[in-house]
Amino acid sequence: MEENESIKDISKYDGKKAIIKGWLYNKRSSGNIVFLLVRDGTGMLQCVVSKNNVDKNVFESAQKVTQESSLIVTGNVRKEERAIGGYELFINDIKILQIVSDYPITPKSHGVGFLMKNRHLWLRSKKQHAILKIRAEVIKACREYLDKNGFINIDTPILTPAACEGTSTLFETKYFDQMAYLSQSGQLYNEATIMSFGKVYCYGPTFRAEKSKTRRHLMEFWMIEPEMAYFDWKDNIEIQEEFVTYIVQAVLKNRRSELEILERNLGKLEIIKPPFPEISYDEALEILKKEGKDINWGDDFGAGEETIISKSFDKPVFIHHYPMKCKAFYMKPDPERPDVSLSNDLIAPEGYGEIIGGGQRIDNLELLEEKIKEHNLPRDAFKWYLDLRKYGTVPHSGFGLGIERTVAWICKLKHIRETIPFPRLLYKIYP
Ligand code: 4AD
Ligand code: MG
Repeated sequence: MEENESIKDISKYDGKKAIIKGWLYNKRSSGNIVFLLVRDGTGMLQCVVSKNNVDKNVFESAQKVTQESSLIVTGNVRKEERAIGGYELFINDIKILQIVSDYPITPKSHGVGFLMKNRHLWLRSKKQHAILKIRAEVIKACREYLDKNGFINIDTPILTPAACEGTSTLFETKYFDQMAYLSQSGQLYNEATIMSFGKVYCYGPTFRAEKSKTRRHLMEFWMIEPEMAYFDWKDNIEIQEEFVTYIVQAVLKNRRSELEILERNLGKLEIIKPPFPEISYDEALEILKKEGKDINWGDDFGAGEETIISKSFDKPVFIHHYPMKCKAFYMKPDPERPDVSLSNDLIAPEGYGEIIGGGQRIDNLELLEEKIKEHNLPRDAFKWYLDLRKYGTVPHSGFGLGIERTVAWICKLKHIRETIPFPRLLYKIYP
């Protein structure tokens, strides 16, 4: 492979020659000098082409090169406090691979509809680049925390014979002569694997045919789902608190410059440390009523309700003991009060709403059979799941954290669509 350097390591080449392979982000010129702002995926570098110091053809290349043209520049690295990243490249040579004409995304502002249609190109912009680097850091931190804490990564199927999170949001697909559904969650399968491994997690894409057009819903999103044998709902909350703290602190440590590009208020993230406040559904209802919401006991919280709660705390807040009827069939009822479940959501601050859903699972065979019936689920498809309550059942709990909702909060974005490279939105599947 031809020798080349990356912009993120540019300080190592101070006073030396460097070759950078990338694309032109921006350009300005003043008389005999052309400044090329080059990006290579790892950073941005200001490159200086001075008419008096280079061959005529090199200066001409610098003059004609356009935004997003692909190019390889060679030159000497020098410290320059005022330049982005603190260094500049004094160019000796430019090799243009392709001159671009009419790149659709210009430095002027564009409407979101236009940008979404050009998502494949929009990803090159500075802000989008920063968001997706933070996304990668969030995913890395999730795995790192779980790997360090004795969880085994067990991946679960995408093509499934039955619903996990309710039948109204299933994507159907033909599976030879039967119907299959795209996975809404890997949870049920990892309730099986914990009986072999103790603590596990799955990470993968999940699918919900959400008929609602909101800032928080995607049809395809990525979820990390830890599941633990011998954990009750309290243990479950404790680990969620540590997990979210680990993620936020990792982003602060490793992706500070990206947070700065997004002009994120770092103070709001620095305080994300235990303990997080914990309130019951009943207490949350009181807050909502005080804020003037017309809501009855038993109603599920929607985006509006979550936003109000979320703004009442400056840290993520746990809401636990939701009414049984708000939650999925597998939630364990509180033995002291069977109309509420040993469930919890975690609501992110600053108006972001739910980022985690979880709880303790039903471990009793008869009760689980009853709930499957109550929810009109096909018993045959759940035979294997019922087996788990027959052969060595134990109390167990788990949760799912939505990557995109978490990234939207950490980056303080208005809409979830920018947190995933190619969002799948209501009726929209291009590009
Ligand atoms: O609350 P949910 O539906 O929980 C489950 O799926 C459980 N089976 C998880 C478990 O206990 N293993 O979803 C969990 C999280 C939500 O808190 C949210 O962050 C995200 O997944 N989520 C979505 N994100 C984007 N778009 C959607 N349509 C989402 N639906 C859920
Ligand atoms: Mg939920």
